[in-house]
Amino acid sequence: MRLAPQPTSAQPLRLVVFLVLLGAGVVCSPVISAGCPDRCVCDDQLVVQCAGQHLTTFPVNLPLATRQLIISNNRIAELPPLALNYLSDLVYLDCSNNSLTEISESTFGNLRKLAYLDLSFNTLLRIEDRTFGPLASLVMLRMTDNPGLSEIHSDAFSENEALQVLDVSRNNLTALNITSLIALPALRSVGLSGNPWSCQCDNEDLCLWVHLETFKFQGPVSLLF
Ligand SMILES: *[C@@H]1O[C@H](CO)[C@@H](O)[C@H](O)[C@H]1NC(C)=O
Ligand SMILES: *[C@@H]1O[C@H](CO)[C@@H](O)[C@H](O)[C@H]1NC(C)=O
Ligand SMILES: *[C@@H]1O[C@H](CO)[C@@H](O)[C@H](O)[C@H]1NC(C)=O
Repeated sequence: MRLAPQPTSAQPLRLVVFLVLLGAGVVCSPVISAGCPDRCVCDDQLVVQCAGQHLTTFPVNLPLATRQLIISNNRIAELPPLALNYLSDLVYLDCSNNSLTEISESTFGNLRKLAYLDLSFNTLLRIEDRTFGPLASLVMLRMTDNPGLSEIHSDAFSENEALQVLDVSRNNLTALNITSLIALPALRSVGLSGNPWSCQCDNEDLCLWVHLETFKFQGPVSLLF
């Protein structure tokens, strides 16, 4: 009796090997990471804590499913849009006390679940109109203590329909166009103190608003004429 050759038996094996290699490739890619960035602590609640670690760059190797990211008290100069926008489940982002000077319009492009954002104690200079646009779930924005922040575009918050608390205290703002701000349905608290507000014709709305709706404002509002 002769055994018939079985030329096809190698095919499935080759397929399995291919799939295993493909699987390994996916697991090793930096995007879908099961690890934790250097000098950070990651817990099983999807919280990544990197505060006060002398970081000068945004952490790499972040778990894709991260929900809270705390990178405060470092010297990070830039939020890289590509790395940040992989974190589409991010709900809480604390970037306070870093060296951020600028935030591009694509920085927060994919963070539709983000509810809390802290940009306080940085060196931001201006905020463009589309910067916060994609943040449809943003409830609280803290952006205090940026000593050179002197310009916020009039449409900067116009799409943040969920925004309840906005704090822009202790910046270098002389004017703030409130046209789109007063239209936000959920807004209940705005911190404005510690800015060199100028109450001139082009800023009348803000001054009137501050006087009429004082209940909305945290802390003393100082208006310099
Ligand atoms: C900012 O971070 C530095 C370094 O961790 C720390 O020494 C400093 O107290 C922090 N400042 C604030 C306002 O939190
Ligand atoms: C604040 O803004 C004024 C112009 O309105 C500018 O002269 C001054 O240098 C700014 N302050 C800081 C700390 O950047
Ligand atoms: C404020 O912004 C609105 C729309 O964003 C614009 O129509 C209006 O002219 C601005 N007001 C001033 C005083 O610049």
